[in-house]
Amino acid sequence: MKARRNESSKKPRCGGAAAAWLLVPLLVLIVLKTDSLPHLARLRETIVTQVSVETVSEHELRSKVSSSGLEREKIWQQQQQLVEAAKFKDAERLPKTTDSVAEAPPSPASSDEIASHGVDGIKDLKDEKNIVAMNGEVDGSLRNSDVATPRSSKLSCNFSSERMDVCAMDGDIRVHGKSATVYVVAASNDSYRPENGTVTIRPYSRKWEISTTMQMVREVRITTDDTAPQQCTVTHSVPAVLFSTGGYSYNFFHTMTDLVIPLFNTAREYDGHVQLLVTDFDRTTIFKLRHFLGKLSDFPVIDLDADDAVRCFPAVRVGIESHKELGIIPALSRKGYTMKDFQDFLQSAYSLKRAWATPANRSSGQRPRLLMMQRRKSRALTNEEDALAAARDVGFEVVVAGPEVVKNMAQFAEVVNSCDVMVGVHGAGLTNLVFLPRSATVVQIVPWGEMKWACWSAFRDPLPDMGLRYVEYEVTADETTLKDVYPRDHAVFTNPLAIHNEGFGKMWSIFLEGQNVTIDIGRFTGVMRQIYQFVTIS
Ligand SMILES: *[C@@H]1O[C@H](CO)[C@@H](O)[C@H](O)[C@H]1NC(C)=O
Ligand SMILES: *[C@@H]1O[C@H](CO)[C@@H](O)[C@H](O)[C@H]1NC(C)=O
Ligand SMILES: *[C@@H]1O[C@H](CO)[C@@H](O)[C@H](O)[C@H]1NC(C)=O
Ligand SMILES: *[C@@H]1O[C@H](CO)[C@@H](O)[C@H](O)[C@H]1NC(C)=O
Repeated sequence: MKARRNESSKKPRCGGAAAAWLLVPLLVLIVLKTDSLPHLARLRETIVTQVSVETVSEHELRSKVSSSGLEREKIWQQQQQLVEAAKFKDAERLPKTTDSVAEAPPSPASSDEIASHGVDGIKDLKDEKNIVAMNGEVDGSLRNSDVATPRSSKLSCNFSSERMDVCAMDGDIRVHGKSATVYVVAASNDSYRPENGTVTIRPYSRKWEISTTMQMVREVRITTDDTAPQQCTVTHSVPAVLFSTGGYSYNFFHTMTDLVIPLFNTAREYDGHVQLLVTDFDRTTIFKLRHFLGKLSDFPVIDLDADDAVRCFPAVRVGIESHKELGIIPALSRKGYTMKDFQDFLQSAYSLKRAWATPANRSSGQRPRLLMMQRRKSRALTNEEDALAAARDVGFEVVVAGPEVVKNMAQFAEVVNSCDVMVGVHGAGLTNLVFLPRSATVVQIVPWGEMKWACWSAFRDPLPDMGLRYVEYEVTADETTLKDVYPRDHAVFTNPLAIHNEGFGKMWSIFLEGQNVTIDIGRFTGVMRQIYQFVTIS
């Protein structure tokens, strides 16, 4: 298909207001970046120290990868060390390889071309083969096939989604990470033929944020111009999926909606037999998602940006498939995946025990578990202790999770899965609802200021597909700390939409960053009682 790219004319699905809303995390980045730096540095230190003590062979690792729990985590870490170690080795070896590749005749090699290089040319070719054979990495039959079946690869792209561009290719596909180039060798006549033989994709699923998020995402070139294809230095027997962690993956909502779900959509069908290739490699994100990634792929993730190898694959997908916020549209999924499939996958990746939340039996003294997602800097509950006491009095067993607890994703996934009800003021922390058992209840506290529409698209609309129940608690003018800052006749109270219209920054600083919530305990208790009745039996 020959779809033309026409990004600039595309509009975000929910109109201009939504577009503004989606910028929020960008601003959050600026705030958070300073916070996260020490953590990142520490992480880097650990990984680098571990590399030197690495002893496990890759084969051993691969055979162990199917095990679960803590052992899996350890193995994953070792895998990452191997990636690092491999990179150091490559660094020593690659210059030599590259030299000989540069002098080798272009492929497909005709006898004329070899002849024109004379005896020296043939010698160079042999030397190169020796290097390759020593490494045991290049599949000779692949290169022979260049000669035998010249038009064997296929490229197809889809640029019609407003969320992402994707290209799929199979046959003889070669990836050079350092130059972010994917070579489709000998593209067949029914392939997508980009103008000038090259098409570029930013492999992150927020395509409509062209001038913001997507600027943080490296462009990957896909070329069908194979007059001088690179020689393989590493041959993989499994397909690859290439994506970027360069967007705003430090925000957990975006990690889930831009990365985790699209990755599931794209790579799950290979049942582990898939190589993940990451550009804009963000160590923190990769480490945070290690259980998920380890379940998705049997192989260590490859950091492409510094990778000077030419990696050859039987098939490659560039870009990951995103359908909507925090959701999957089965009709758009090649394999017809649903959010239920996604939840099952998460439950298995994180060894979660409860697929369903079953009602607690009051007569036998069971208490339903309620998880309170805390926020500290903004949209915090100023009278949280009272709110928690109210929930306890109603009959809940209350579990409290602050930002520091949430950081350990695997541990926290188990905590979430053990609960029946999740309560929190609108914010990225609520994304952890993906770990709740089905039929659990989510209570979203919507801050003051006509914020409903934004809150709905993130944490209301996606819930039915996950089998979760939704309860909304909208903060009144009496419950926001904005009343200590603005008089009641101010537009903040009389016409919040006017504030939205004054610009995104203003809306953001007043309604999202500028308020805490002092909950009306009487009203809150009433809501808690209703939910309690619903999640218990006698
Ligand atoms: C391309 O993607 C769009 C939207 O994601 C989808 O509706 C369409 O069916 C896809 N086209 C092909 C040929 O797969
Ligand atoms: C294709 O190449 C021509 C000539 O080099 C150039 O003018 C044109 O802009 C190129 N088109 C694209 C889409 O890059
Ligand atoms: C709840 O517990 C009581 C007392 O243990 C028991 O008699 C009753 O059958 C239980 N109800 C259900 C629905 O299991
Ligand atoms: C909200 O509460 C936190 C924690 O007490 C405080 O640091 C912050 O300044 C408060 N923000 C507003 C807008 O009142």
